[in-house]
Amino acid sequence: MKDTYILGIESSCDETSVSIVKNGTEEIATVVSSQIDIHKDFGGVVPEIASRHHVKNVTMVLEECMSKANMSIEDVDAIAITYGPGLIGSLLIGLETAKTLAFVYNKPLIPVHHIAGHIYANSLVKPMEFPLLAVVVSGGHTELIEMTDHYKFNKLGGTLDDAIGECYDKVARVMGLEYPGGPKLDKLAMEGKPTYKLPVPLKDDSYNFSFSGLKSAVINLAHNEEQRGNPIREADLAASFQKVAVEAIITKSRKAIIDKGIKHMILAGGVAANKILRAAMEDLAKELDVDFTVPPMKYCTDNATMIAAAGYFAYLDGRRADMTLNSKSQDELR
Ligand code: KG4
Ligand code: ZN
Repeated sequence: MKDTYILGIESSCDETSVSIVKNGTEEIATVVSSQIDIHKDFGGVVPEIASRHHVKNVTMVLEECMSKANMSIEDVDAIAITYGPGLIGSLLIGLETAKTLAFVYNKPLIPVHHIAGHIYANSLVKPMEFPLLAVVVSGGHTELIEMTDHYKFNKLGGTLDDAIGECYDKVARVMGLEYPGGPKLDKLAMEGKPTYKLPVPLKDDSYNFSFSGLKSAVINLAHNEEQRGNPIREADLAASFQKVAVEAIITKSRKAIIDKGIKHMILAGGVAANKILRAAMEDLAKELDVDFTVPPMKYCTDNATMIAAAGYFAYLDGRRADMTLNSKSQDELR
């Protein structure tokens, strides 16, 4: 069978990225230009600044990727683009680039949901087996998604308030850690013990999550200790927070695996880089005898490799967009 090459473009937040992936499983070349250093001083991503940097970077990133792959746009079969969800100004830069390429080179345009991208980062590791449970944990999402086949998504549940990554970042900020705080909190937790008592969020029978109560509990605890003049044992607080947050994900994932007869569980999204979560998910998979995949670190945070991989399966599913495709800041995974 003829090989299929998909060019992917991602610009939904603060990473400008272009990648070429062969048959949805093999990375040919990827370039990621991150703006973390630019937004660090503001304690989070500033949308207006992010889109301006995407404009500045996108052509260079595209050219660098094509030269790394030693290919030209004529050689690719389709252009896959993150149309949403994300920051609207950022999304638009990638989208207009993708539309221009698709129009000029007469290539099919494949719309990719950002979360489908995070999920399909796993197809670069191992073929998917169905029914599959995707545990999506990122800065904007915390969701359990059942897949009965490629591109057949059924959302079982999600967060009722904050996403887990958002919660990590806010807790980290209170502890004086630089943006993005998630990875730094993860590292700090390794040095501590979970000695602080924190509330376990949403202990119910649903597949939903709630992280805002946990976030407030950590913030209140830190402030109260400060007012009493008690020094906070930061590593212990990080470990305590992490234990409860991870436990919530594990409990609901366990329920979904059992209820839905899941064969393959995958972890997806930026928080999939979290060491304790990865280890706890691995243990859960062993306990319930299901396959488990987690992307390597470089495919966990935003990148276009995952968009090109998802784009391949969307292409096979017959998904196409025309020049009227618009960016969406919010959209359900379908
Ligand atoms: O998927 P992503 O790159 O962006 C979204 O689509 O939201 O995820 C970014 C999130 C941030 O909240 C960041 O703090 C978190 O992933 N993150 C981590 C770790 N690495 C990244 N959170 C906890 N532990 C980590 N090691
Ligand atoms: Zn993401």
